[in-house]
Amino acid sequence: MHQLVFATNNPHKLRELEEILKGEFTLLSLNDISCTDDIPETGDTLEANASQKSFYIWERFGIDCFSDDSGLEVEILNNEPGVHSARYAGESRNADENVSKLLFELEGKKNRKARFRCVISLIIQGKEFLFEGRVDGEILTERKGEGGFGYDPVFSPVGFDQSFAQMDADLKNGMSHRGRAVQKLVAFLTQTHNSLHDRS
Ligand code: IMP
Repeated sequence: MHQLVFATNNPHKLRELEEILKGEFTLLSLNDISCTDDIPETGDTLEANASQKSFYIWERFGIDCFSDDSGLEVEILNNEPGVHSARYAGESRNADENVSKLLFELEGKKNRKARFRCVISLIIQGKEFLFEGRVDGEILTERKGEGGFGYDPVFSPVGFDQSFAQMDADLKNGMSHRGRAVQKLVAFLTQTHNSLHDRS
């Protein structure tokens, strides 16, 4: 099976990705390759951050890898918090505080349209490929559900009454921004499987 490093330190995302890939690829974590670096994320777009992270790994370790960067884009807030989603309420990266700040910013607002967007940067033998996934929805007026992470308790996708935090992992992964970006990644990898195989 083809080995790929997933350049993330987020255990939730690793678990989600392992579920989505369901044994098609061997996923290595940063831990598995003994990378303890705090990988810089200084870009001002999701694309720039994803590229920065995967090139960091490729340049230092020379292993095929991918990284993702995601964010919540809220229409009436000019697509904020976007690339700042993790640190929306401050450097402590506290999800609960981020959600509180978002609910505060949207208090009394009728337009609650939002979307999650995810960009994956894949590097195969030094060549980069980008994949994007999106899911449209709205920000609820209060938290619902205990599952998931980040903004999941206040995000409800179009066509559903539940929040992401009320869905089981399979349901969320099947429609989520990351799920959709990963489906594109997997389709690409499957298509190019033979040439990948020849090189390994
Ligand atoms: P990351 O850069 O992909 O780690 O995502 C940045 C931030 O966006 C996270 O810290 C979360 O606050 C938020 N986020 C990304 N994906 C999700 C999701 O699936 N559910 C809830 N929040 C998310």
